[in-house]
Amino acid sequence: MKPPPVIAGNWKMNLGPGAARHFVESFLPLVHGVDAELLLFPTTLALGPARSVAGDARVRFGVQNVHWEDQGAFTGEVSVAMAAEAGATHALAGHSERRQLFHETDAEVARKAVAIRAGGLVPLVCLGETLDERKAGRLEEVILRQLNAVLDALEGGTGPWMLAYEPVWAIGTGETATPDDAAEAHTLLRNRLVARGVAGAGKIPILYGGSVKPGNAAELLAAPQVGGLLVGGASLDPVGFAAIARAGTG
Ligand code: PGA
Repeated sequence: MKPPPVIAGNWKMNLGPGAARHFVESFLPLVHGVDAELLLFPTTLALGPARSVAGDARVRFGVQNVHWEDQGAFTGEVSVAMAAEAGATHALAGHSERRQLFHETDAEVARKAVAIRAGGLVPLVCLGETLDERKAGRLEEVILRQLNAVLDALEGGTGPWMLAYEPVWAIGTGETATPDDAAEAHTLLRNRLVARGVAGAGKIPILYGGSVKPGNAAELLAAPQVGGLLVGGASLDPVGFAAIARAGTG
């Protein structure tokens, strides 16, 4: 029996403070009693407003990015402590858009993961291969390289963390990995966690992300080693995202 899935919505640069509040008010009644760990990642500006209308509902909130320093002259950045003060319990690190559009390196992603965990938040570390890398037969090499960088940095620390496998070719493209594709990558990641002797290796949730929709959520959640879903576009609609949250509970 798998534990209840983690169902996470990454809103990216969508839904400002007002729209985020409105989303949460519409969404919460739709997921009442759903047996899943629900996470929302609004823009940093919308985090406080979204959370303010969530009350003590089971949904929790995270930020999409942080800087690894506590404070200082880093224009445009926010620290882990600031995110925590605004109510975040989780933070993404290494989303492929950060890696590709903002040129974040494996080393920087690892630094962020360490800072997030040291600050008492749960890092949700994203990794995945591009289409060219997949076509060149480099899936295993690429995702294990990305994973190793994080494992090297997190070694010795304590506290929960999560992984998300998000093949870049499936993000925002409508092209979903098959449950078999997801299972293959997730198994590689799980085996590496175990081989490296990572604490709680068998239990660290590994989410799948990339064009998840209400229509494919259940089959992806049923795939071996898939412990949840990280949803972009389809998390912007409360009705559709609630349907995805329900997919794991049948
Ligand atoms: P998508 O995005 O669901 O729109 O493909 C997923 C993600 O980028 O986390």
